[in-house]
Amino acid sequence: MRIFSDIDNDGSVDPAGVRELTRANLAGVGATIALASARGGVGKSMLAVNVAAALAMKGRKVAIVDADLNSPSITAMLGMKPRRRYPMIEGIGPAAAPHGLRVVSSDQLPGGEAPPISFAQDYDQADGNGAEPIAPAPARPAELSYRGALSRILSQSQFGAVDLLIIDLASGLDRLYALASMVALDGVLLLSHPSSHDAVDTRQAMKIGRAIGAPIAGIVENMAGFNCDGCRAVRPLWPEGDLNGVARESAVPILGRLAFEPRLADSTDRGVLFVREYASTPTAKVLADIASHVDAIVAARTRAVDTPAT
Ligand SMILES: Nc1ncnc2c1ncn2[C@@H]1O[C@H](COP(=O)(O)OP(=O)(O)OP(=O)(O)O)[C@@H](O)[C@H]1O
Ligand SMILES: [Mg+2]
Repeated sequence: MRIFSDIDNDGSVDPAGVRELTRANLAGVGATIALASARGGVGKSMLAVNVAAALAMKGRKVAIVDADLNSPSITAMLGMKPRRRYPMIEGIGPAAAPHGLRVVSSDQLPGGEAPPISFAQDYDQADGNGAEPIAPAPARPAELSYRGALSRILSQSQFGAVDLLIIDLASGLDRLYALASMVALDGVLLLSHPSSHDAVDTRQAMKIGRAIGAPIAGIVENMAGFNCDGCRAVRPLWPEGDLNGVARESAVPILGRLAFEPRLADSTDRGVLFVREYASTPTAKVLADIASHVDAIVAARTRAVDTPAT
């Protein structure tokens, strides 16, 4: 199994300087948006590629970081192939994707077709049969942590001048915490299913977001019912939770509600962009509306930079 230092082994992570290094590296980035969720499989990556593509089709320059380092899905959803050459000499070179998108993903880094990255060497040390981990090794240095790996990516990737950087997080609010500690985010989109358990977790996410100063721009409710052929009605997929109540009490808008759309699942599996292939569908319209909210954040950020406070 690879360890992160195999990918980038200069061993120079300085936790105190991470925020400053990242800030300097992202100087050419207009706005930075994160997609987060308490639970997995709620559609963050699907939304990341479709929002990115919708804005790129309108002329925005967009980069995406797939911050799900061990289960990256962005490149597959964009129909990209593993790279054969890796421009790692001066930092990490983003890969070119359709619509001029720039993508940094662990599966585009050296050895990207190899097994997953481990952030803790002790888990790589198997017993004689190669099955079970041996006794835990002493604490590992910071650069082998998820946070260390993410900080390397954000402080060394050469995004250049882009209007928007979308960071697609792995599920779990600890990931949002790690990210917010190193990057000044301009907005966080929280994804949720409409189920009662997800609503409880999203309420918790609001509290955590507020506590760590992450600007929650809105909630996206995904798989909000299934529009089955011939039913003439949208059928619920889960016993409904109180996501409206969560949005109301936290004064955060629900930016969009996406029904379960089999063609959306199919297009992400095939690496085809739904917002382009099915542009005239109601689902593409909701995705475009969500992209417009993100675009408004980019525009506001650009205005703020153009007219600095006196
Ligand atoms: N509204 C939808 N209708 C149909 N399929 C969807 C919808 N939203 C997402 N999917 C599909 O559900 C699966 C999970 O979505 P996705 O990978 O984007 O979730 P995720 O939140 O990024 O998951 P993870 O937490 O593992 O990163 C994918 O196959 C995706 O294409
Ligand atoms: Mg994902």
